Amino acid sequence: MSKDSSNTIESILQEQRVFPPSNDLASQSRIGSLSVYKRMVEEASNDPERFWGDFARSELQWIKPFDSVLDWSNPPFARWFDGGKINISSNCLDRHLHGSRAEKLALIWEGEPGDTKSFTYKQLHKEVCRTANALKALGISKGDLVALYMPMVPEAAIAMLACARIGAPHSVVFGGFSSEALRDRLIDGEAKAVITADGSFRKDKTVLLKPAVDAALADGACPSVESVLVVRRVNESVQMNSGRDFWWHELVDSQDEECQPEPMESEDRLFVLYTSGSTGKPKGVVHTTAGYNLWSHLTFQWIFDIRDEDVYWCTADVGWITGHSYIVYGPLSNGATTVMYEGAPRPSNPGAFWELIQKHKVSIFYTAPTAIRAFMKSGRSIPDQYDMSSLRLLGTVGEPINPEAWMWYRDVIGGNRCPVVDTWWQTETGGVMISPLPGATPTKPGSATFPLPGIEADVVDSQGKSVESDEGGYLVIKKPWPGMMRTIHGNEKRFRESYWEYIQPSDGSFIYFAGDGARRDLDNYFWVMGRVDDVINVSGHRLGTMEIESALVSHPSVSEAAVVGRPDELKGESIVAFITLETGRVANDQLVDDLSEHVSKEIGRIARPEEIRFSDALPKTRSGKIMRRILRSLASGEEVRGDTSTLEDRSVLDKLRT
Ligand code: WT7
Repeated sequence: MSKDSSNTIESILQEQRVFPPSNDLASQSRIGSLSVYKRMVEEASNDPERFWGDFARSELQWIKPFDSVLDWSNPPFARWFDGGKINISSNCLDRHLHGSRAEKLALIWEGEPGDTKSFTYKQLHKEVCRTANALKALGISKGDLVALYMPMVPEAAIAMLACARIGAPHSVVFGGFSSEALRDRLIDGEAKAVITADGSFRKDKTVLLKPAVDAALADGACPSVESVLVVRRVNESVQMNSGRDFWWHELVDSQDEECQPEPMESEDRLFVLYTSGSTGKPKGVVHTTAGYNLWSHLTFQWIFDIRDEDVYWCTADVGWITGHSYIVYGPLSNGATTVMYEGAPRPSNPGAFWELIQKHKVSIFYTAPTAIRAFMKSGRSIPDQYDMSSLRLLGTVGEPINPEAWMWYRDVIGGNRCPVVDTWWQTETGGVMISPLPGATPTKPGSATFPLPGIEADVVDSQGKSVESDEGGYLVIKKPWPGMMRTIHGNEKRFRESYWEYIQPSDGSFIYFAGDGARRDLDNYFWVMGRVDDVINVSGHRLGTMEIESALVSHPSVSEAAVVGRPDELKGESIVAFITLETGRVANDQLVDDLSEHVSKEIGRIARPEEIRFSDALPKTRSGKIMRRILRSLASGEEVRGDTSTLEDRSVLDKLRT
């Protein structure tokens, strides 16, 4: 990212543009003014349990009412809505089957080659019930973890809801991850079954998925996995292992179309979703049923101010939390029409997104800054060819959005009439935490504005003390919220350490911190600056530097590796790896290709370094710690500033500069 196009302190301080909601929009919105928003904030702060309890009762359907709202007696382990019984698939489907909504479109799906399918609520309910019965037929019952390794096909959403229906937590693994990465997740989660497809269509090519599942399961590596359910998507011949592998169309289509939803305890696990941290292997973030249902439901309703006639489209992949909360659960729980797209804009169809907006008259569009920057680069002539007058609201998520991209989005895609909501959140938070409310919040380009009602966000120093306006600090959440992660699967210690012990206020209270830096301006607007830990964000994909480093050092030629992020105009950040070789190994182009391929195999293509630099030594402190700060400066071609006196061997710097 160049200086003037990023959230640098300079550009923020210069940012004077403010876009208040139009009167028209405000008058039609649920939360139609800042004073309504402030009243909600106050209510939540005065009596949080009443605030959340009222919403939980009025917005969700319960099989059995809950006895208590929040139990925070054992922090950081929260319990929400104890005593209640609920099923999220029934909140997403069954409750919409009475009256006209039964015939409303729940899901519109577009395949990459142009095939399309749609499901009314009634039809989706049937498909989910059939799939749920198929899972039961495979011997899966309440509590068993089911992994999904799927392309963006309707069966991905159907499978998630089917798991939820029978109380089997799902663990969706992004289809772009390698078989090794899949295997790690299957083992860690002790998955009992895998749902996948023969392959998928990606950028005019066919990519096979089933062979990656076979590789992950090979040699008895995942003894917990008993069966594999395979969707036929690309019609390529893939090996089917008899007794273990079943075709979806053979098993699911013949099932009964009724399946009673399993009454789940509020705190029963709904899903595990792996995400990268600054240390170690990816962590299995655990979300539970009722709190997550409420949070994905409410945030979707507030932020998109959803109306019955809306057609809503989020371009994320179901393999990420955005796909969970804002393609599947949030929209369906609200009875909205959600669009799912298998493809991506590509040279053969650079206007793919705009064509879909035009075709389905999409009114709410939610995408990532990296996509917006790519469109911006290829100019407005492409989007200008499409009729996007159906749009009324635009959202962004995944990384900081630079003011220029925000303005371009508003102007070129939104025709200067659609509010832009920049939504800050994380896998761990379950749903959006900081975002404008379109009918209430005057927006500033590049700012996620204010925390949602009930979310006590702050910017603090390492002791948990609020910092002054316009000073940088750690972005934290000071009170529990319904959608918060409950733990890391199988690792409570890491849960405590990663999120709750980094900042320790003197009063002993628990403060949630997950790695972002932020500042607040004089008007109290939040500006998220990006990660302050060793996590990098490449095109909105979160990757741990340690993960990539361990992939690199597992290659026989590599002795040491250090990975840093370099600001990138399009991707936000790109990956740069510094490497020292084992003696006798020679650095050449072939090795660069080999290492890149190796990372791809260990993690997935998204983790391949953009640049690999070889060196005799890495800059280290006397105690042997790699000085990443220095590497970050070197990677971005900046002057190495700040203290280098702790550097053990200063000559390393000169060698690395070249
Ligand atoms: C990290 C979380 C949340 C869904 C997608 C990513 C960054 C996310 C924003 C935003 C600035 C953002 C943060 C966060 N991030 N949204 N609007 N402004 N940064 O989920 O993979 O868990 O990544 O994405 O750095 O910590 P995730």
